[in-house]
Amino acid sequence: MPAPYRIAVLASGRGSNLQAILDAITTGRLDAQVAGVFSDRPAAPALERARAARIPAFAAEPRDFGSRDAHEAELFGHVARAEPDLVVCAGYMRLIGAATVEAWTGRMVNIHPSLLPAFKGLHTHRQALQAGVAEHGCSVHYVTAELDGGPVVSQARVPVLPGDDEPALAARVLGREHPLLVATLRLLVSRRVQLGPSGVLLDGEPLAAPLRLDSAGVLHRPDLQPD
Ligand code: GAR
Repeated sequence: MPAPYRIAVLASGRGSNLQAILDAITTGRLDAQVAGVFSDRPAAPALERARAARIPAFAAEPRDFGSRDAHEAELFGHVARAEPDLVVCAGYMRLIGAATVEAWTGRMVNIHPSLLPAFKGLHTHRQALQAGVAEHGCSVHYVTAELDGGPVVSQARVPVLPGDDEPALAARVLGREHPLLVATLRLLVSRRVQLGPSGVLLDGEPLAAPLRLDSAGVLHRPDLQPD
């Protein structure tokens, strides 16, 4: 039997995306194991979720270190010792330095609450409401040195409805983040999706546009199967 595919999860807060991963593994929808959960916030509920699932949980608080680099070296030193095949940033709210990103290129993905390249950075739901867009959503992308700028693997869309405020829109997007992350991880774990020299590869072929999650939670190539 091949060794289980190992995922390290970085999370700063609530950890609902982490929980979606754990639940998918428990119910046999994701053939992987979470090798560890790592945080910049010792009080992050995500760490509690890890401990409840008997998964190693580690936190390093930036203020306990002399520099951003020193903090990152400590945190990612622990990540490396967990020997993950993939690092998943699931609500990890700190910028990751270029040297660390470089070291994990092609092996680190992030879930971001917008349809990238729209609305990078923070307060994405506020940005979407202020821009007056009709559609919003979430993306899973490879992490590169450019903030929220790496190649996008997959996206899920939601409508922006009349009367939406930030919490309402955030909740609608979050409801799609969980199935999007699990469906995308299934492709990464099976190594059907990889990062090639000029972008995302699916089954060895360049992906012209991000995969899109349908209402049944299945990812499609929008270039082959338009809506
Ligand atoms: C999610 O909405 C995720 O997309 C977002 O933080 C939330 C974490 O929720 N990530 C970012 O904004 C990264 N820039 P969770 O802790 O319940 O998974």
